Amino acid sequence: MADAPVRFGLIGGGWRAEFFTRIAAAMPDRFEIAGVHLRDPEKAAAFGARWRLPVCDTLEALAARFEARGRHPVFSRMLGHYLEAMDIDAASAVLDLGCGTGIAARRIAARRQFAGTVVGIDRSPYLVAAAHHLARDDGVADHAEFRVGDAGRIDTADGAYDAVVAHTLLSHVDDPRSVLGEAARVLRAGGMLGVFDGDYASLTFGHPDPDMARRYDDALVRSIVTGPRVMRQLPRLLQTAGFELTSSLAYVVADVGTADVWASAIDTYRRLMPQAGVVTEADPDAWADQLQQDAAAGVFFGSCNYYAYVARRT
Ligand SMILES: C[S@@+](CC[C@H](N)C(=O)[O-])C[C@H]1O[C@@H](n2cnc3c(N)ncnc32)[C@H](O)[C@@H]1O
Repeated sequence: MADAPVRFGLIGGGWRAEFFTRIAAAMPDRFEIAGVHLRDPEKAAAFGARWRLPVCDTLEALAARFEARGRHPVFSRMLGHYLEAMDIDAASAVLDLGCGTGIAARRIAARRQFAGTVVGIDRSPYLVAAAHHLARDDGVADHAEFRVGDAGRIDTADGAYDAVVAHTLLSHVDDPRSVLGEAARVLRAGGMLGVFDGDYASLTFGHPDPDMARRYDDALVRSIVTGPRVMRQLPRLLQTAGFELTSSLAYVVADVGTADVWASAIDTYRRLMPQAGVVTEADPDAWADQLQQDAAAGVFFGSCNYYAYVARRT
């Protein structure tokens, strides 16, 4: 009986991945590709379609994560706090930058006193389509629309908006200055900006071995954000971009003993970690399994600081 083909996974979509893909395609009796992981979900989908390979369901996982996080009472409350601080109901035209599935935009559109329109933009067509469907499901599509767009080059006239929201966007962009510059450009004078994000340099989970805990924390932060310290820079960056900080809100989002807020994050992070090329130094399955065991045993620890800043366009 012939041996079963060797099954392997691909991480990345560069020339090496293509080389191994061609070998597997030429020798299907010897090699089988179980799936492909790419950091950029859109590129992953394109690579998978081209080679007819299963793609890690990153987009689905991300969409589910955004929804689970956004709907959690802790995150929902923080969003509500800064929308109030922005006096969002007074705005007629609101822009949600990096809207994802539209957690912030849909929440604004659903407010009873809000009579304006909120536009969400995101660079991911998949998430924009998801936001559109969810807005219809929530019955807020009359007040919310979603488009594909780049927060660093917004396709909108100067001063077109009364309020701009960036809900967990800035830690994910390479150049927060250009996003803030664009937010300032599209806001009218006196318009309000709300920025909410994790201070991911403070993201940390428990582990029986403190050295391993630090390595996992480092690997995780590198996997999920590009700017783990951006919220520490923001008071300075806001001023430079032409904003006056009017209020700030600070939160510690911590689960101690059992996992609640962080429970839905563990599996998403388990899937995202390999795509950042950190698998050799930190095994995501071992990490996630340990955390789930900790949660079951009542010894879980997971924590991150979050901040919301509200600023006026001067
Ligand atoms: C962590 S998610 C937040 C999504 C949503 N605001 C929420 O809180 O659920 C970051 C989002 O920003 C989007 N994004 C990243 N860089 C972007 C850019 N330059 N322009 C537009 N969207 C961007 C990503 O596609 C992703 O949907």
